[in-house]
Amino acid sequence: MGFQKQGLMWLSGLLFLNILVLSRADVQHYDLFLQESQFTKLCSTKNVLTVNGSFPGPEIRARRGDTVFVNVHNQGNNSVSIKWEGVEDSISGSNELIQPGRNFTYQIELDDEIGTLWWHATSAWASATVHGAFVVLPAANEDYPFPTPDSDKTIIIGEWFRQELTEANQTIAPGQADAYTIDGHTGETNGCSNDTTFEYQVDYQGLYLVRVMNVVNETMVFSIASHSLTIVGQSGAYSRRSFTNSLTLGPYQVVDVLFCANQNLGHYYITARPSSDTTRSTSGILRYTTTSTLV
Ligand SMILES: *[C@@H]1O[C@H](CO)[C@@H](O)[C@H](O)[C@H]1NC(C)=O
Ligand SMILES: *[C@@H]1O[C@H](CO)[C@@H](O)[C@H](O)[C@H]1NC(C)=O
Ligand SMILES: *[C@@H]1O[C@H](CO)[C@@H](O)[C@H](O)[C@H]1NC(C)=O
Ligand SMILES: *[C@@H]1O[C@H](CO)[C@@H](O)[C@H](O)[C@H]1NC(C)=O
Ligand SMILES: *[C@@H]1O[C@H](CO)[C@@H](O)[C@H](O)[C@H]1NC(C)=O
Ligand SMILES: *[C@@H]1O[C@H](CO)[C@@H](O)[C@H](O)[C@H]1NC(C)=O
Repeated sequence: MGFQKQGLMWLSGLLFLNILVLSRADVQHYDLFLQESQFTKLCSTKNVLTVNGSFPGPEIRARRGDTVFVNVHNQGNNSVSIKWEGVEDSISGSNELIQPGRNFTYQIELDDEIGTLWWHATSAWASATVHGAFVVLPAANEDYPFPTPDSDKTIIIGEWFRQELTEANQTIAPGQADAYTIDGHTGETNGCSNDTTFEYQVDYQGLYLVRVMNVVNETMVFSIASHSLTIVGQSGAYSRRSFTNSLTLGPYQVVDVLFCANQNLGHYYITARPSSDTTRSTSGILRYTTTSTLV
């Protein structure tokens, strides 16, 4: 009798634990639409394959341990498969080739991954424009192992080709791009009226978590003038903290950094350039909001 009661208590304890663990994780649903979209950059217009018409593609957000369903609808002209970089555990359908006019739902079970993962089209030519961040935040009952940032932002270093990329472009060799991009912006140095510059607005004394993604097949150097960066994570995990003035990212590497907007109010250049060529940089602007009252 006593034994049975103990067993029952033990069992209900286990059930309780199970519910606790289950209640931490959530289920997220996302829809991505692969479609041809027209872009004008570097004084020329072309069609590129995009997700939801945007370059780079939209961000997916989840928490540690979540299950994420991503329904990919292929409204483009080519068969495409999506690769989930940094997801260690299980992805149903990771080899699925989605035909034009069809859709497929990936089921991604997150485990211990944390920080910034990313997704992209498997083939090199499509991956140049079909990519985006997959942000994994701490679970609801967890904190960051560093001071909590006021906000976080993904900055994607990419590249742009004047010519159309097709299935003939099975690889993209380093140094082939006509321009590098920061979040899709080439900057305004090419003398083309439709080119735009990346801008990032921050508040004085704010603490920011920036997820820097290099989707270029080259080692790239990223920096924010006058601001030092603290590396806090990479490859889907937290990392030992280290400080740097310029961040060097290998091909397809993602690094999470913290920085404090602690300089004089003003504008500061954000630059990205290949490590092999200092003359080919692209820049954006970090802009302090000027509404803060100066004492
Ligand atoms: C993509 O676009 C569809 C349709 O407009 C929208 O429902 C969906 O939320 C978008 N996906 C993301 C990840 O923003
Ligand atoms: C995609 O297919 C549509 C309809 O078949 C066609 O009008 C369009 O030109 C094609 N786009 C490209 C980039 O081949
Ligand atoms: C295709 O999308 C529909 C609705 O958007 C969904 O009900 C269906 O399960 C999806 N099919 C696959 C294979 O993911
Ligand atoms: C894409 O392929 C075409 C045809 O082979 C080639 O001329 C072009 O240089 C390639 N573009 C890149 C960026 O590799
Ligand atoms: C990256 O460039 C190298 C050559 O330096 C090439 O072998 C490789 O296939 C390229 N990767 C992609 C995804 O294009
Ligand atoms: C640039 O954009 C404007 C509208 O924003 C458009 O009217 C114009 O045709 C574009 N220029 C080119 C070269 O496509």
